[in-house]
Amino acid sequence: MEGEPVNVNEFQELARQALPKMYYDYYSGGAEDQYTLKENVEAFRRITFRPRILVDVSRINFSTTVLGYKISAPIMVAPSAMHKLAHPEGEIATARAAAASNTIMVLSSMSSCSIEEVASSCNAIRFFQLYVYKNRDVAAQLVQRAERNGYKAIVLTVDAPMLGRREADIKNKMIVPPIKNLEGLVSTEVDNDEGSILEGFANGALDTSLCWRDIGWLRSITNLPILIKGVLTREDAIKATEVGVAGIVVSNHGARQLDYTPATITVLEEVVHAVGGKVPVFLDGGVRRGTDVFKALALGAQAVLIGRPVVYGLAAKGEYGVRKVFQMLKDELELTMALSGCPNVKDITRSHVKTEHEKIH
Ligand code: FNR
Repeated sequence: MEGEPVNVNEFQELARQALPKMYYDYYSGGAEDQYTLKENVEAFRRITFRPRILVDVSRINFSTTVLGYKISAPIMVAPSAMHKLAHPEGEIATARAAAASNTIMVLSSMSSCSIEEVASSCNAIRFFQLYVYKNRDVAAQLVQRAERNGYKAIVLTVDAPMLGRREADIKNKMIVPPIKNLEGLVSTEVDNDEGSILEGFANGALDTSLCWRDIGWLRSITNLPILIKGVLTREDAIKATEVGVAGIVVSNHGARQLDYTPATITVLEEVVHAVGGKVPVFLDGGVRRGTDVFKALALGAQAVLIGRPVVYGLAAKGEYGVRKVFQMLKDELELTMALSGCPNVKDITRSHVKTEHEKIH
């Protein structure tokens, strides 16, 4: 690629050039046939706009609030594991970029920097993503550490009782690097060194018995609001509101878990309708353009999260790269709002987009 990247997708190529194949494959890959990986992006392309004209767009304001925290744009950092594989400064660089971009970072349980290191390195608003391990005490300790260190919410990931089958990782025998956050809590030693070592580790450590009643357990050990990440159906959206979560993330884990789940943007409305405004709904998966952010908001999301774009920015250019990724998406969102006749986030409505099979009368 010639010159500086001009969009988020171009960071992917830079990341590919910067990273060893094993790590690039880990970041970019999806599960099995990677149907969902492609769909997450393609489904956004099938949604078109119904722009409104002659609206005063001399002032565009895309700031918003998430759980009461004001952020500069409805775009947050999705939790993704092991940032030191992308850049030596790891999650600290990501968190600084989130702070500079005035947005929220969700720190992964599987982070290469600890909860404490990330907290003390910047003043970004931080949420903590939780995986529940077989030893429930580990989850309790992680949650307490997050709470003590000023994280504002727990994001419970519910789509990964076992790790999805990521075939590139199996071929590459993907390693488990040091995961500082789990030091002294979970052993990352794996007996079997065939296939993906990471998969072996995850499948040995994750608690496959986690179920709905455990949300009550989680609520009993923390005062923080709990978001549930990995909802794809109206049935589960309704259950989630019944058990008292503070928000729902429509997510298929960036297509890394169950292949042939639908693109998240195609099930967003189903979830939004089921939730009926009781709690905010967020979306991740395939967001690569400001137009994608706009489409998600039009279909009812309060904000989106981005996973791979952050990691690619980090791999290519460290903290600066992540800042740049956010800046590009914000610039594109601003332009989309201006050209659609929506000066404020609340002006973006369902009638500003058209989905594939929809007839407009
Ligand atoms: C993830 N994701 C993820 N989710 C989670 O809850 N905990 C985690 O540790 C990770 N780790 C992780 C690593 C990598 C390399 C990727 C790409 C993703 C999923 C992530 O939070 C999010 O759902 C997706 O990344 C969103 O899709 P896009 O933006 O990558 O298309």
